[in-house]
Amino acid sequence: MTILALETSCDDTCAAVVSGAGEILANVVSSQGVHDRFGGVVPEIASRHHLELVNAVVDDALARAGTELGAVEAVAVTQGPGLVGALLVGVATAKGLAAAQRLPLVPVDHLQGHVAANFLAPAPMEPPFLCLIASGGHTLLVRVRDHRGFEVIGRTLDDAAGEAFDKGARLFGLGYPGGPALSRLALDGDASAFAFPTATRVPGLDFSFAGLKTALLYKVRELGEQETARRAPDLAASYEHAIVEALIARVERALAAEDGPRLAIGGGVAANRRLRARAEGLGVEVHVPPPELCTDNAAMIASAARWLEPVPFPDYLGLDAYATRPRRPAA
Ligand code: KG4
Ligand code: ZN
Repeated sequence: MTILALETSCDDTCAAVVSGAGEILANVVSSQGVHDRFGGVVPEIASRHHLELVNAVVDDALARAGTELGAVEAVAVTQGPGLVGALLVGVATAKGLAAAQRLPLVPVDHLQGHVAANFLAPAPMEPPFLCLIASGGHTLLVRVRDHRGFEVIGRTLDDAAGEAFDKGARLFGLGYPGGPALSRLALDGDASAFAFPTATRVPGLDFSFAGLKTALLYKVRELGEQETARRAPDLAASYEHAIVEALIARVERALAAEDGPRLAIGGGVAANRRLRARAEGLGVEVHVPPPELCTDNAAMIASAARWLEPVPFPDYLGLDAYATRPRRPAA
């Protein structure tokens, strides 16, 4: 089965073509690059750009896959969570494409997509495993029992890990998204130069990044403008270290309670060099998708769709996007 997938939950306009076996035939991501000057994503601007880009991105994905809409067997799309205006562009486009060919439509949860990045060829990880999902909007530790869903066992009590990267980056005057920029700045720094809190006193598997962000703010104020600029690589490396250690501390706790501990990671923060290295060094079986499958993309949405119930034509025409994940009863 050939699946065409669309992902427009935030500021990247994405389309991909994936085979039923999980081979990526095309994976196109158009980053809008217009939110930088605002220090974050402006929802209205994101929606408008999706509208301008989406058809070209879909055409590009089909062309790169060497196929055409007539050969596609299902259309998948991110239904939520995310920016509703942005999601609606993807959902409306997917409905149109699917309806034109009388194809089934598969609505996909964005976070399930991040998990399903681990199911893609050439070396998929098969459930069961634990998965750390760390992105700009979410930080979750989940148990993956099958290909269709997950159970949340830990979540952030305040900011997401990606948000902590982005807010920290802003204090250094770096652009959006801040994670990659802060990580680059940290390359020349000493991660042990400053001791930032990792909230490991928060018991259990929940995360907290608000104290860390405040600690950086106070340190920057204490050092003053000139000294902050001089020590920026050390500050960035220490801050990045604290975020990664906070994530890894919960992962280790969760793995310790497992019978056959196996770990996968996903979400934009899983593209982080330091986190990837730490995860790979945990001494258990670990699956780390390539960085371009960690940050938002449509191949992961197509991957998730392979195991979900397709909605037949025309039942999906009334399908709506959702901004936040509906709470499902525990399985
Ligand atoms: O999954 P994602 O692309 O979009 C959301 O679903 O939110 O994650 C975006 C987040 C941003 O906060 C970005 O700063 C962060 O992932 N990120 C990184 C890196 N690449 C992206 N954070 C740290 N290091 C990176 N290399
Ligand atoms: Zn994401």
